[in-house]
Amino acid sequence: MKRLIVCLMAVVAVMNVAAQSVYDFKVKDEAGREVSLEQYKGKVLLIVNTATRCGFTPQYNELEALYSKYKAEGLEILDFPCNQFGQQAPGSIEEIHQFCTANFNIHFPQFDKIEVNGPNEHPLYKWLKSQKGFGGFDVNDQRGKMMDGMLRKKDAAYDKNSDIKWNFTKFLVGRDGQVINRYEPTANMGDIESDLQMEMNPVLKNIMARRSVRKYLDKPVEHSKLSLVVRAGINAPSGMNRQPWIVRVVEDQQLIADVTNVYKQVNPEMVKRDKNFKNMFRNAPNLICVCTPVNGGDLDAGLLGENMMLAAQSLGLGTCCLGGPVRFLLSNEKCKFFMERLEIPADYKLNYIIAIGYPDEQPDAKPRDASKVKFIRP
Ligand SMILES: Cc1cc2nc3c(=O)[nH]c(=O)nc-3n(C[C@H](O)[C@H](O)[C@H](O)COP(=O)(O)O)c2cc1C
Repeated sequence: MKRLIVCLMAVVAVMNVAAQSVYDFKVKDEAGREVSLEQYKGKVLLIVNTATRCGFTPQYNELEALYSKYKAEGLEILDFPCNQFGQQAPGSIEEIHQFCTANFNIHFPQFDKIEVNGPNEHPLYKWLKSQKGFGGFDVNDQRGKMMDGMLRKKDAAYDKNSDIKWNFTKFLVGRDGQVINRYEPTANMGDIESDLQMEMNPVLKNIMARRSVRKYLDKPVEHSKLSLVVRAGINAPSGMNRQPWIVRVVEDQQLIADVTNVYKQVNPEMVKRDKNFKNMFRNAPNLICVCTPVNGGDLDAGLLGENMMLAAQSLGLGTCCLGGPVRFLLSNEKCKFFMERLEIPADYKLNYIIAIGYPDEQPDAKPRDASKVKFIRP
């Protein structure tokens, strides 16, 4: 019998970790009623384990400020009091709620007390921790150093597991119910707000979601959508509004197939390497060819291109900026028919091509090197 119970507990634990999103969990509200987190579908959630007698308790002020600033845009802060860290959340949930309302005038939902670590940990927290483990304290920060020292004294290997380390650990959950990030209690609230804005601001979100796509559905892009993308492009800034570029949008699939036949003859090994090979333009059904005057305009053309790729992304389209195929087109005599169809004036050159279509893959984000950025401050 005992073995069966242990087995069942293990199955339940695995099921919780295998949850698809935060909406799979139920929690108890302040009045002890079971509620599903499904009610927060489409919202951005900041989930925090709190305590009323902690050095970090004044963070309630910052949390309430964040809530009042972003609630209208869809932020919900879910507050789970927890007495597991220094027993700093004693008292009933009613007493805790009264305290928080009286002292910090909080307006975000506060739930029943839970445990976030150990055998009685709430399934929600088991899942949250499985999605984002402990990333360490910033020991260059005074408070981070203090926390690290305190916890290491108790357990030299405290940082080797994903347990919640202290009160006011936070998880940011996106509108799709997936964990975006985890913040230790010492994390700067400004950094949390930045991540929040990345998720809530549709322009920033669109920028962050764009990827180079190299696998597309067999479905040409509608003319109206291509026009919209190009319109967004030509509205990019240009030096003295010269708009030095010219743009050619290829909607003729036969033209793409014909020039790809030339490519196939010259580069059979490249064709073999891409097991999804459809054409030499990273398999996209449509192309936007950007041309610039032979003596300049690169900068303006670049801005035009990014506008178009972001516009495409916002319309559910994928893109890939292409330099390689341009070099092939310019260097191979047999591609002349393609170049002629573009009707590029003699004093212009084909600069780059944007492959565009309905994506058939969701590539991961490529890493970016933030160390290249330096802020020059007073
Ligand atoms: C000027 C330029 C030329 C590029 N040429 C090619 C290309 O010939 N083939 C290709 O597959 N990707 C090409 N790319 C896409 C880059 O590889 C891609 O932007 C980069 O790896 C970052 O990935 P991301 O766009 O998904 O963030 C090019 C990008 C730029 C800006």
